[in-house]
Amino acid sequence: MLLAAAATAGCTPKTISTSPDGRNVVAFDAATMTYAVLRDGDTLVRPSALGIATREGVFAGAAVADVLHRSFNETWEAPWGENKHHRNRCNEMAVRLDNGLTLRFRAYDDGVALRYELNLPDSLIVTDELTEFRFADEVGTLSWSIPGNFETYELPYRELPVAEIADANTPFAFRTPGGVYGSVHEAALYDWPEMVLRRDGRGVLKADLSPLPDGVKAYIPGTFTTPWRTIQLGDRAVDLINSSLILNLNEPSKIADTSWIMPQKYVGVWWGMHLGTQTWTMGPRHGATTENAIRHIDFAAANNIQGALFEGWNRGWESWGSDQHFDYLEPYADFDLERIAAYAREKGVELWMHNETGGNIPEYEAKMECAFARYAELGVHTLKTGYAGGFAGGYLHHSQYGVQHYQRVVETAARYGILLDVHEPIKDTGIRRTWPNMMTREGARGMEWNAWSEGNSAEYLCTLPFVRLLGGPMDYTPGIFDIDYLTAKADPGRTEWNGPNAHCCIKTTLARQIANWVILYSPLQMAADLLENYEGHPAFQFFRDFDADCDRSCALQGEIGDYIVVVRQAGDRFFLGAGTNDESRALQQPLSFLEPGTTYTATLYADAADSDENPESYRIETRTVTAADTLEIRMAARGGMAVSFIPQTE
Ligand code: NOJ
Ligand code: CA
Repeated sequence: MLLAAAATAGCTPKTISTSPDGRNVVAFDAATMTYAVLRDGDTLVRPSALGIATREGVFAGAAVADVLHRSFNETWEAPWGENKHHRNRCNEMAVRLDNGLTLRFRAYDDGVALRYELNLPDSLIVTDELTEFRFADEVGTLSWSIPGNFETYELPYRELPVAEIADANTPFAFRTPGGVYGSVHEAALYDWPEMVLRRDGRGVLKADLSPLPDGVKAYIPGTFTTPWRTIQLGDRAVDLINSSLILNLNEPSKIADTSWIMPQKYVGVWWGMHLGTQTWTMGPRHGATTENAIRHIDFAAANNIQGALFEGWNRGWESWGSDQHFDYLEPYADFDLERIAAYAREKGVELWMHNETGGNIPEYEAKMECAFARYAELGVHTLKTGYAGGFAGGYLHHSQYGVQHYQRVVETAARYGILLDVHEPIKDTGIRRTWPNMMTREGARGMEWNAWSEGNSAEYLCTLPFVRLLGGPMDYTPGIFDIDYLTAKADPGRTEWNGPNAHCCIKTTLARQIANWVILYSPLQMAADLLENYEGHPAFQFFRDFDADCDRSCALQGEIGDYIVVVRQAGDRFFLGAGTNDESRALQQPLSFLEPGTTYTATLYADAADSDENPESYRIETRTVTAADTLEIRMAARGGMAVSFIPQTE
């Protein structure tokens, strides 16, 4: 709701927008064409340049035509998400320059944002974005990020002073010496390349856009709005997770009827291929067979799991990594698609399709419409896509070309009533608000890395929620119970990805694997292990009880890379997940998030006394609790705890 609108004519040399709580200020100086950010009166971002360079001219300094201030204070509802209700409360300042460029700034209690709006008669060829990020104290400000890379986000984190950052992708989390936590990112990325931070020849950290093969950054029409450049701010690390800033900066849903868009838990034929005991291609070890599919559908139906994914169901996998020709319609001969689809419908389980493209964009774009129509006909509403392979023609995954492709898939899928889980995606900038069928994505090192590499450490898992997940949900595919892969390692004929993989294992305790279902938010949440590792396992009860469709979430405590505690409410149930890094840890957690006056059965899935040495060791404990109680969360090194709270009246 628009609360107030006031136009200030003429030139104001310095214009500011202040957050409703008065703590965050974004100031614009037209004389120098710079912005600065202050919190509680302290400078966080020193005057930093703004502007866009094009072949047609540089859109930077110009006289101010007018400044328009307005305020928002509204609550909006999302069909799904960590939270179903969000408050959008901010003050906005639009500075219109007389060269056709408008700079729009917003100051929220949880951060600031700015974007460029062009209003010119002719199209433009963009060669650079001039936005700088001059941190007030580069030496004292610590940051957590992956390197800037226009092809992949599957890179390890670095914890570095900002002064040592040569390049970084976003979300770029930081903590100032004064204890302000923040994150630089972007919101509403459409028709524009992704932004990374890169130190230029002058030693200044600035926006760098992913190029097209001809070196141009973007071809845009004369009337164009860029993504928002965002700086989330908070007093505690968990404030960044609890912020709705990125979603607030995206437009409301373009899908009018969202009743078909539902979160799901799912299982699938997937992990066996990464362990190397099964194959995507047809042959004696083929994973996606009719028999296996029926088994997974039966398991899902019996365990309160809504979906089942089968990778390697379609022809073309022989070409993966070579000429990348996948068939999106034809199943392998041992996967009876029609029968499986009918069986899934009968059992009330969502059959997922999987489209690995290998990065062959032209072919996928030519075939996807037809494929989606066929999937819809089969009653399929969920699709996992993948882009494991370089794009043809020298195009980069994160370039304007890539951004436009990923968006085309989202919009086409929406027309066929299809939900998306995108691997090797473009990073999440909150477009799920506008396109709620864009459910989840990878965009970081997921579980697969544990199967064939040094794997993801407990510290990495304590970093993900404070960095990658600030963009949005992640399909990490958590929940491996067979921590040592003993069965897989006993199989001499398995495929060894990236060299010998006998050293590979999960780098956490089993209790932590359970906790990750809560901590690593995804509306499509997978129980990723082989079914035989869940069958008859007492701890799998947590996933059976877990509800992927939550109403509210709160990150309760944590420090980046060290530990985290998150709670999610779904209906009248609550699910808590806690995790630590390589240090064992005991935390006190008040249960004041529970409904006052209700008595709950709390089931704890916790590390056992010997979990430090024996990560598969766990204990399950049941207690009666109320909101007045405090829970002691004891975690082994690399451990965690998951708790379900079910009202005793249920
Ligand atoms: C990489 C994806 O992240 C993974 O989940 C998938 O199994 C393979 N590509 C094959 O598509
Ligand atoms: Ca991947």
